[in-house]
Amino acid sequence: MKTTFVTAAVFLFACKSPAPAETPQNIAVKQAPEESYQKSIDDTAKKMLERGRDIFRDESFGSEQFWGDKLRLHEVIAGEKHGGTGQGLTPRTAFALGLRVDFGRVPSALGDVIKGGTLSFDDAENTNNLLKHDAVVGVKAFYEGDRMVSVGITCALCHSTTDDNFGKGIGRRLDGWPNRDLDVGKIVALAPNLKPIAELLGVDVATVKKVLESWGPGKYDAELLIDGKAFRPDGKSAATLIPAAFGLAGDVLECIRGKHADARRGDVLRSEARRCEEISRRGESEDRTCAAEGGSRHREPRGVALLPAGHSSAEAAGRLL
Ligand code: HEC
Repeated sequence: MKTTFVTAAVFLFACKSPAPAETPQNIAVKQAPEESYQKSIDDTAKKMLERGRDIFRDESFGSEQFWGDKLRLHEVIAGEKHGGTGQGLTPRTAFALGLRVDFGRVPSALGDVIKGGTLSFDDAENTNNLLKHDAVVGVKAFYEGDRMVSVGITCALCHSTTDDNFGKGIGRRLDGWPNRDLDVGKIVALAPNLKPIAELLGVDVATVKKVLESWGPGKYDAELLIDGKAFRPDGKSAATLIPAAFGLAGDVLECIRGKHADARRGDVLRSEARRCEEISRRGESEDRTCAAEGGSRHREPRGVALLPAGHSSAEAAGRLL
């Protein structure tokens, strides 16, 4: 019995693996110059990496339909001079909100001003100039001529920062590093029209403002617009700390307990029943006990929750691939 099995196994193996000399080769393979395939594999890998980086930095996934078209956030950023309202977002306010400037994208004339230490922090014209050059990390402003017509955000808004080599908030871009100064809630609260959020959540605008202001720097509640729950069962904010977007392979990324215990969230998220204490990593206290208690791993790119209706996570994933 045993011999039969071994013989059969050897026979099967022999069938599947012909000796190299007998391996059929197609003509193209024979004629290919040595190493050509290796090079194209390497080139493809490099291209995909570059494309992914471009997407991470600059793809807004149509989020301008929400932040700009609906909330009209661009109007307060642009200011009257550029088609909006008021004086516009000054560099001083932008930096206070934790926004970052990628010096590598600053136009050279303005770069010299920054290096010389004479940048006017109270002139919204400078913010507009930086936005036009896509130099404000993760903020994608759309202009028609000199008029800002909408604004969207990219992954880099939360998941990139700068090394501050040229002053607070201005430096070389560090992709994947969380921006722990960024006050997402306060930025959203600047929007002239918070009604779309209030309607989504079934509350009034004052409540929306209160929730947004409860987040604080470095935090964002990526699920609020999906589940409508702003606070944990213990009454504290449900916003989570922005994690680093690298080095996560194999990590217990997020434990979801508590917040969603009683939430009716549809099939996709139903299984992730409860949210744990906010995750922290890299030296900060990490609550891993929820994993032991059955908390689930969550690996979907979080920008999805920011997308306007009609954009599916499949579309986002497709663009990330
Ligand atoms: C407005 C801020 C913000 C933006 C924009 C954002 N993220 Fe996140 N991201 C977070 C926060 C906060 C978390 C962790 C909290 C959570 O998962 O609820 C997170 C988690 C992650 C994680 C870790 C997964 C996990 O559960 O730990 C990855 C990877 C990630 N984001 C990638 C992306 C990508 C790719 C994009 C762009 C499509 C993006 N993020 C856009 C704030 C943001």
